[in-house]
Amino acid sequence: MPESNIEYLLGTPEEKRDEAAVLYETAFGQKFSMAIASQADRVNLISQAFLLKFSIAAISNGQLVGIAGFQTESGSLTGGMNYRQLISQLGFIRGNRAAILFSLYERKPVPGELLMDGIAVASKMRGKGIGTRLLEELFAHARREQFEQIRLDVIDTNRQARKLYERNGFIETKTEHFGYLRWLLGFGASTTMVYKLPPIEA
Ligand SMILES: CC(C)(COP(=O)(O)OP(=O)(O)OC[C@H]1O[C@@H](n2cnc3c(N)ncnc32)[C@H](O)[C@@H]1OP(=O)(O)O)[C@@H](O)C(=O)NCCC(=O)NCCS
Repeated sequence: MPESNIEYLLGTPEEKRDEAAVLYETAFGQKFSMAIASQADRVNLISQAFLLKFSIAAISNGQLVGIAGFQTESGSLTGGMNYRQLISQLGFIRGNRAAILFSLYERKPVPGELLMDGIAVASKMRGKGIGTRLLEELFAHARREQFEQIRLDVIDTNRQARKLYERNGFIETKTEHFGYLRWLLGFGASTTMVYKLPPIEA
């Protein structure tokens, strides 16, 4: 049975900003460590950059236990992390290095498409259906907003996430191999998956 005392909100509340940054950094920090070596800098940067309305929050007993970010043509959860912010927080050299590395991850939605911008569940709360519920909330939001599909990328080493997506109806569309960039990115391949939203009935 899914955890029943969990509230799912469209838009992470402002007072959960720092918790959201810590949760996100714990899940994805390793991926960004080549760009920004210091964990404190990463948390700080994420906290300042987050556009919280582009996310679904899972809250249990007042604590943020999960977050699913998304990106549309109007913006994204991590959309505040731009060149200016990187330079102002990290300085010219480190900021430029981070900007170049982040550009490798940059994706843009096509019209009618919602992109996922990171889903993370607190490690102690995994395996209880929270990731699944966050996806369901995201599907419901995408349907209400009349999107046609949801797209995401998952790296080859993340079997747990891949399983979650497959179980919830995402289909693989392509796999990109990074060859010599592997040492820099920390993974060798990334798979694009798409979930087609059912057409709206008249
Ligand atoms: C990927 C991630 C978000 C999954 O979150 P989760 O809350 O553990 O996901 P769920 O609990 O819904 O599903 C995980 C497992 O628990 C099982 N489960 C247990 N109770 C469940 C319930 N009540 N309802 C649904 N599934 C349940 C699922 O069947 C699933 O098993 P499976 O992996 O064998 O298919 C989480 O592992 C995470 O935060 N990882 C780090 C960040 C990350 O990698 N994000 C994805 C980047 S692409």
